[in-house]
Amino acid sequence: AEPLRERGAGSGFVVVANRLPVDLEKLPDGSTRWKRSPGGLVTALEPVLRSNRGAWVGWAGVPDVEVDPIVEDGLELYPVPLSAQEVADYYEGFSNATLWPLYHDVIVRPVYNRAWWSAYVQVNRRFAEETAKVAAEGATVWVQDYQLQLVPKMLRMLRPDLTIGFFLHIPFPPVELFMQMPWRTEIVEGLLGADLIGFHLPGGAQNFLYLARRLAGQPTSRGTVGVRSKMGVVQVGFRTVRVGAFPISIDSAGLDEHSRRRSVRERAAQIRAELGSPKHVLLGVDRLDYTKGIDIRLNALEELLDEGRIDPADTVVVQLATPSRERVESYIQMRGDIERQVGRINGEFARVGYPVVHYLHRPIAREELIAFFVAADVMLVTPLRDGMNLVAKEYVACHSGLNGTLVLSEFTGAAAELRQSYLCNPHDLDSVKDAIVSALTDDRETRRRRMRALRRQVLAHDVDRWARAFLDALAKGQVAGKALVAD
Ligand code: ADP
Ligand code: G6P
Repeated sequence: AEPLRERGAGSGFVVVANRLPVDLEKLPDGSTRWKRSPGGLVTALEPVLRSNRGAWVGWAGVPDVEVDPIVEDGLELYPVPLSAQEVADYYEGFSNATLWPLYHDVIVRPVYNRAWWSAYVQVNRRFAEETAKVAAEGATVWVQDYQLQLVPKMLRMLRPDLTIGFFLHIPFPPVELFMQMPWRTEIVEGLLGADLIGFHLPGGAQNFLYLARRLAGQPTSRGTVGVRSKMGVVQVGFRTVRVGAFPISIDSAGLDEHSRRRSVRERAAQIRAELGSPKHVLLGVDRLDYTKGIDIRLNALEELLDEGRIDPADTVVVQLATPSRERVESYIQMRGDIERQVGRINGEFARVGYPVVHYLHRPIAREELIAFFVAADVMLVTPLRDGMNLVAKEYVACHSGLNGTLVLSEFTGAAAELRQSYLCNPHDLDSVKDAIVSALTDDRETRRRRMRALRRQVLAHDVDRWARAFLDALAKGQVAGKALVAD
């Protein structure tokens, strides 16, 4: 795409992410339209960008199309084109069959492929070049997520005038796992091109500090990193790189308000009626991803039904699953496994006209999704590993009436904040089963007390606070600059 402006003009604030907040959709008649992109990154960043005016550099979600930059409500979108081969090698390959499983505790075995790595380098360079054209002199650029870890260094070489932040939306793995990566030093050095590197949790920041010492050979601070405080420091020549923990969140007040609307309440009541007015509605909402532990919650439910601890006559499970990365082998396999499992549970426990598990494999419109959150008595969030998990926070924000319960895996970033949820260990099926049963049977006052505490946390720590904490730290770092020396 042609730059809209000459260098020197350009945008003062630029977000760079693999995806734009909208995906181009090709309709059967050959025409196109834009739809919202999947995933938590977009959920979180969209409201931030809308209130800050700025530019967003990213891929339009389909291969081999050249799309002109568009301006929408003051938000400038700059599409970066990817060929079909690059989608296969950079996106499906290196990003989602190498980095994604490696950073999520190798739940699936990462594939290390040299051609994929070359494509990753090449596409990261293209993102850096596009960004260099869009950013104004002295602009702040905020690079997002694992698909673009080389961009900070590449961009700094092109544009040393920029202030560069990087945020990782997924877990940063333990050192023992990261060391598998054949291009581990390149990745650490790529990230060190930023002025501030953000993770969800202090543990991720500390893993990174250790690697910056060991792999990049740079002096670093050694103290523990705090949440939104006590950042770590890496000294890269004359530059000081800060490393911190900034747990991401949602537009809590917006969702709270939305969920109280009469239209949403009515739709929630209607959903319960359509499900056959059961006593208990249990809900799962995920991208269809093996990290989410959809199989685990289904296993737990199957055993509970089998043991008679859950009665199929009064309990309904709804699993909403957005299609995701549908050409990656491990996703194809997992989809088959889950669909067989749903079929087996219904085969054993359903009555005609009353499935026990309702499974929808499609994205659900925002308004309808909120009604599902409102309608559910128990939210099931059981990932084996998840950087944060915004679904857990969304559910909490939708329960102003204090009448819902959250079953939450300890292996999510959200578990560090949502301590009053029904926490469980997804590797221990009994722990998942017990959490579900407690969520269903605890007395009303206990459930309300827990939800009240969860709401306090989610409403006080919204996505705006996350963005401000990160961007303030980025700006302050520039002022403090070289004065700071690693201890
Ligand atoms: P991830 O980023 O890994 O997909 P998160 O839980 O952090 O996981 O964010 C997922 C986002 O996508 C949330 O905003 C959630 O509401 C949305 N989402 C998940 N599943 C669906 C679905 N089936 N339909 C519509 N939106 C969904
Ligand atoms: C997670 C990742 C995002 C990604 C999203 C959807 O939230 O952190 O970077 O955009 O999943 O995945 P997809 O591969 O469809 O972009």
